[in-house]
Amino acid sequence: MKSLSSENRKFEPSAEFVKNAKISGLESYCAEYKKSIENPESYWANIASELHWFEPWTSVLDRTEAPFYKWFNGAKTNISYNCLDRHVEAGNGDKVALHWEGEPGDTKDITYGELLQSVGLFANVLKSLGVRKGDRVALYLPMIPELIVAVLACARIGAVHSVIFAGFSSDSIKDRILDCEARMVITSDYGYRRGKVLELKKIVDEGVKDCPSISEVLVIRRNGNDSVDCAMESGRDFWFEDCANACEDHCPAEPMDSEDLLFLLYTSGTTGKPKGIMHTTGGYQVFSYITSKYVFDLNDQDVYWCTADVGWITGHTYIIYGILQNGVTQLIYEGAPNHPTPARFWNLIDKYNVSIFYTAPTAIRAFMKWGDHWLEGNDLSSLRLLGSVGEPINPEAWMWYHEKVGAEKCPIVDTWWQTETGGHLLTPIPGAISTKPGSATVPFFGIEPLILNDEGEETDVGILAIKNPWPGMLRGIYGDSKRYLETYWNKWGGKYYFPGDGARRDEDGYFWILGRVDDVVNVSGHRIGTAELESIFVEHDSIAEAAVIGIAHEIKGQGLLAFVTVIEGKEINESLEKELIALVDQRIGKFARPEKIVFSSDLPKTRSGKIMRRLLRSIAEGQELGNTMTLADPSVVDEIQKQFKKG
Ligand code: WTA
Repeated sequence: MKSLSSENRKFEPSAEFVKNAKISGLESYCAEYKKSIENPESYWANIASELHWFEPWTSVLDRTEAPFYKWFNGAKTNISYNCLDRHVEAGNGDKVALHWEGEPGDTKDITYGELLQSVGLFANVLKSLGVRKGDRVALYLPMIPELIVAVLACARIGAVHSVIFAGFSSDSIKDRILDCEARMVITSDYGYRRGKVLELKKIVDEGVKDCPSISEVLVIRRNGNDSVDCAMESGRDFWFEDCANACEDHCPAEPMDSEDLLFLLYTSGTTGKPKGIMHTTGGYQVFSYITSKYVFDLNDQDVYWCTADVGWITGHTYIIYGILQNGVTQLIYEGAPNHPTPARFWNLIDKYNVSIFYTAPTAIRAFMKWGDHWLEGNDLSSLRLLGSVGEPINPEAWMWYHEKVGAEKCPIVDTWWQTETGGHLLTPIPGAISTKPGSATVPFFGIEPLILNDEGEETDVGILAIKNPWPGMLRGIYGDSKRYLETYWNKWGGKYYFPGDGARRDEDGYFWILGRVDDVVNVSGHRIGTAELESIFVEHDSIAEAAVIGIAHEIKGQGLLAFVTVIEGKEINESLEKELIALVDQRIGKFARPEKIVFSSDLPKTRSGKIMRRLLRSIAEGQELGNTMTLADPSVVDEIQKQFKKG
């Protein structure tokens, strides 16, 4: 864990921001927080009543099968109704829901009314192909409006979506489909990334080869200038537009039980196999709605932009569900931040008058490196609020964001949360909480964080824990309730939720996240389990053993470093390294490539055979190694040190 930060600058929200904010001033925050903790059920019921329910709940929180909590049990609702119909019925059908811009610059504006129609049409296409409530549907799409439409269409008819980030490989698609037995994959002919055409359908074809559960592949033509030829397997593959010709665009929202599964989203864990995180309907709906409303202080006039991909939880909650439920206008951009130049994001903020901008520290650090001159000539004065997500933001990046992008007038909400939490748990409320560069500050309403040691005693620096359930929390790991209990509830005997992050609390009670305490590395905000990578390396017939660790990385926050041992008699050469990298690309995707692979004849182990990762980390960081005499073979350390320096 990192040493204590000495950061103590504090920034108050401007009087003007406070004046118009949804929650104004510290006192309002404290009063609201107190209410939410002292009487959580009435607090959450009150929030929930801002949304539409076909039938009311019989209990707000049911703890009888804890930690399998149930929220708003007995209620019937539909989250796509709350994202769409509710606004159209209120007379806001002509309001723009999405300003979309593709990487090559093609654009489209879609109103709430049009979005409702598109979702209805898409839902009818799904139905016409036989998709029913409860079926699992995998999505592998670029950031085009149809991705959002497809997600909402699944929600509308009660099909469970499992979005797979389009940077994942065909093997990852296969693993995820096999795990949840998806019946359909929705993809597109192609998408763009950094000027290159990505042929997604081809990757899907590779991925579904050995997936007996798949009966249809639905293919969307990306709304671009060219189209890409796809091999279509008769009886299995369907063009969306062909199916749509036979369907109407009105599809009533299916009343779903509050605890019906809404979606699965896979995330890396500490074992080789990704976990299918389960989110259900009612609680997630309420939590995504209210965190969006208060944390982004959403107003009718706002143009909101979150740069995440819908393939990650940030896109699920803070592009689709939370934001659309609030009925605001947002920008969706398909491509890379530096295409065609590193001015692209600033051009987009200027062009669309973005007022709320939510991005990741890794992007901010990349912009810092590319240079401030890319900001010049862009009018960013429409911005009033900035956000950060996915990894700890270092104070230097925070200050750059504050000064160069926010012109020192925009509050920055550094939001700490996880795929599992469904929405923000630690975050400033922008009109109420002064911010400190690098701190996720204080809990959201209804959230009770603690910092504990291994024994479950409170400390100032230790492991983050969450007391009491909240509506947006995961409901389990698909098909593996034992793993759910072991991963999240075993640490302190079932008393607290264990997120896997280290944290400290300062004299003002502010929380500072210190990074993961388990074997998960956060590379550019993407969680990668070291065990998953290790198991991939040892698949290679030259590799005997592998140990992967996270190391500090200037842009990505963390990078991966792999130490591998080669089977005796096998040659270490450049092509072996290339083969290992290709294996990572094939099994996970390019974003999981290690920064460096260090080859050696052995790894440092204790006499009982346990790999000493701590030592590997010290070697990587060039630290004093201390006593290595407890190792089975101390000489391996010298060898690894030499190899490390050589590479
Ligand atoms: C890290 C992303 C520090 C943390 C929303 C967490 C953060 C993991 C922050 C979840 C933040 C996320 N400050 N660390 N503001 N936000 N993290 O599931 O380690 O992709 O456990 O969810 O990212 O990553 P996930």
